[in-house]
Amino acid sequence: MILRAENVTKNFDQGTEKLEILKGVSLKVEKPETVAIMGRSGCGKSTFISLLAGLDSPTTGEVEVLGKQLATLDNRTLNTFRARHIGIVFQQFHLLDHLTALENVRLPLDLNRLENPDARAKEMLEKVGLGHRLDHFPDTMSRGECQRVAIARVLVMRPELLLADEPTGSLDVKTGREVIDLIFRLAESEKLALVMATHDPKVAERCTRLLYMDSGRLGTERPAAFG
Ligand SMILES: Nc1ncnc2c1ncn2[C@@H]1O[C@H](COP(=O)(O)OP(=O)(O)OP(=O)(O)O)[C@@H](O)[C@H]1O
Ligand SMILES: [Mg+2]
Repeated sequence: MILRAENVTKNFDQGTEKLEILKGVSLKVEKPETVAIMGRSGCGKSTFISLLAGLDSPTTGEVEVLGKQLATLDNRTLNTFRARHIGIVFQQFHLLDHLTALENVRLPLDLNRLENPDARAKEMLEKVGLGHRLDHFPDTMSRGECQRVAIARVLVMRPELLLADEPTGSLDVKTGREVIDLIFRLAESEKLALVMATHDPKVAERCTRLLYMDSGRLGTERPAAFG
């Protein structure tokens, strides 16, 4: 099993108020497949994605990736585990401005002391169509190119699970489509399980499974109030 979330809840304390954002969310992904999560703004998609990534922990319930329950791992083990097995792409690119495209993609390989970092980073950048931008710094690349570098940096670690939180949210429509094409192409060629939060119905339709987050729960029913 690649991913198992079981009855996950998440509350936030907001002053004296307790916000119950996730009220028992379960999701199983057993093989490489693509899962879209849609839902109104504020319904908890990003919250759920960050729990799946182990970037935050659930109030109750379990998240298991490749058979490892994330809550049982200490910080250091969790960071190493995440780096090797879970790729995360956000709306923002989170590239390091003082590093070139090649250096950005090399970074996780270097940090994890993996072999042939230069060759692997170059190969990945070629796969995302940026073989001609290796020495460019983020501020000399377009937004679409920056997102492709961010995707290359994630996939160079060969994760089994790719989590994407509105990966085209800060791109224009055409560039967004190119980035989505790239994500689906790589998900297939690298045999990734993809879980993606998106507001774009066209993107969601391309996934093998479409789920809706509503009132703190995740289901296959399209909520009536969804439009
Ligand atoms: N750290 C926090 N403390 C308090 N409330 C939070 C915190 N993080 C998120 N929330 C609240 O939880 C709710 C869900 O937020 P989340 O970002 O998961 O929504 P979303 O579905 O991703 O929305 P969008 O489509 O706009 O990205 C929101 O009402 C938000 O204000
Ligand atoms: Mg969000």
